Amino acid sequence: MNITVISGTPRKQGRTRQAATKVAEKLQASLIDLSEDQLPLFDGTKQQEHHPAVMKFKKTAAETDAFVWVSPEYHNGMSGALKNALEFLDGSHFKGKTTLLFSVCGGGKGGINAVNQMRTVGRGLYAMILPQQMVFDPEDFDAEGGIKKGTEDRLDSVLAEFHQSFPVTN
Ligand SMILES: Cc1cc2nc3c(=O)[nH]c(=O)nc-3n(C[C@H](O)[C@H](O)[C@H](O)COP(=O)(O)O)c2cc1C
Repeated sequence: MNITVISGTPRKQGRTRQAATKVAEKLQASLIDLSEDQLPLFDGTKQQEHHPAVMKFKKTAAETDAFVWVSPEYHNGMSGALKNALEFLDGSHFKGKTTLLFSVCGGGKGGINAVNQMRTVGRGLYAMILPQQMVFDPEDFDAEGGIKKGTEDRLDSVLAEFHQSFPVTN
């Protein structure tokens, strides 16, 4: 089972990156870090199909059995970096594949807008978006950017449900 975590922050110092890295470690998943593996702005031209970062991204997505999307909440929505990355993909990359959503917010009950928006976008890509989801608040991180114990317990229970959602194979 190949699992890919997409970290949707464009910021190298972003907390989204910390959360996505932790999730990828726990799931022993591949990590696509959009702050490192920067994609061009999607323009729909054939030339972009030969861009090394685009080729790598599309190949990884095609070989993935289940996804985790982790986005910061920016201006009440998912990041432009994640939305732009998804424009390079289509239903063939997501159809029938379990997809789990996380967002990272600035507090004040933020974060829900980003996961709701990702849910709508995921439907457009035929992804099997799980009802379980989680928002990381600033208080969920310690001074070093690590995830606090209580938050990690919540994270573990969401990831257990993610695992249970996979089709049983013989
Ligand atoms: C351009 C911008 C817009 C933001 N808008 C929101 C917002 O609408 N709601 C919210 O809860 N946090 C908002 N934040 C705070 C981020 O969600 C917060 O910094 C969080 O750590 C995730 O972003 P990061 O991965 O870039 O650190 C915003 C941050 C930036 C840079």
